[in-house]
Amino acid sequence: MSWKGLLLAGGTGSRLEPLTKAVNKHLLPIYDKPMIYYPLTTLMLGGIKDVVVVSSPDALPQLEKCLGDGATWGMHFEYVEQPEPRGIADAFIVAEKQLAGHSVALILGDNIFHGSGLRLLVQEAMRDHSGAQIFGYGVTDPSAFGVVELDREGKPVSLEEKPTDSRSNLAVPGLYFYDEKVCEIAKALTPSGRGELEITDVNRAYMSERELSVTEMGRGIAWLDGGTPESMFDAAQYVHVMQARTGIRIAVPEELAFHLGFIDNTQFARLTASGPKTSYERYLASLA
Ligand code: G1P
Repeated sequence: MSWKGLLLAGGTGSRLEPLTKAVNKHLLPIYDKPMIYYPLTTLMLGGIKDVVVVSSPDALPQLEKCLGDGATWGMHFEYVEQPEPRGIADAFIVAEKQLAGHSVALILGDNIFHGSGLRLLVQEAMRDHSGAQIFGYGVTDPSAFGVVELDREGKPVSLEEKPTDSRSNLAVPGLYFYDEKVCEIAKALTPSGRGELEITDVNRAYMSERELSVTEMGRGIAWLDGGTPESMFDAAQYVHVMQARTGIRIAVPEELAFHLGFIDNTQFARLTASGPKTSYERYLASLA
């Protein structure tokens, strides 16, 4: 069984209007890169080279222009239309053909993860090809997220989507790992009160079969998102501060493709062969 990444870049981006009137949210900048580079590189950390990008018919050509077919990064991207914004779990239905026979690592296109333990965490989650693996992340206000409650042994006992009165402070970040049953599970869902196929209901289906495991993301990992102007600004500041201090850029697909062996020396050198003109290209050239 091999893994495919599912990168979700749909939705209306209404919380970011008017920024999203003409541009898909996931193409907006988080400091010096398009938002979508961040979740894409998180998938790459797990060694995932095959990624299915799901978005609206409007935005798909823009995303394709931004990411290409993946070949220069030693990857392979497929683009799948989601005709209506019917919720996160709808991605499994529209991309069923592309995902058939694979385990699926789903990441939401506005979720940003960073930290030294991230690679190991993703790799550990991918070791198991049965059931579902999700994460819990302690936050001060979980009401904007899916929320998971664990028992003393760390087993999930409840899952709620954006509860007003949450039973725990563990939010569920937008990074999920599923076995090949996930498309069938998504097809059996009914829309929630807000008319969407909820990812929390997918997780609940696995939980009721005792096939859901939850790992707490420790303090070593930063989890940010770009869903609102405030969170986008916070994420941009975080990236700026970290990069300025260390000189190491966050979420550079070219760099990661090179380090992970998706491309070799010659392919990497080719990326800046025509002479580095931008500061991004100069950074890449400095790594070669
Ligand atoms: C979605 C999910 C929610 C999850 C969150 C993570 O919410 O529905 O369960 O915790 O992403 O970012 P959204 O932000 O799309 O409303």
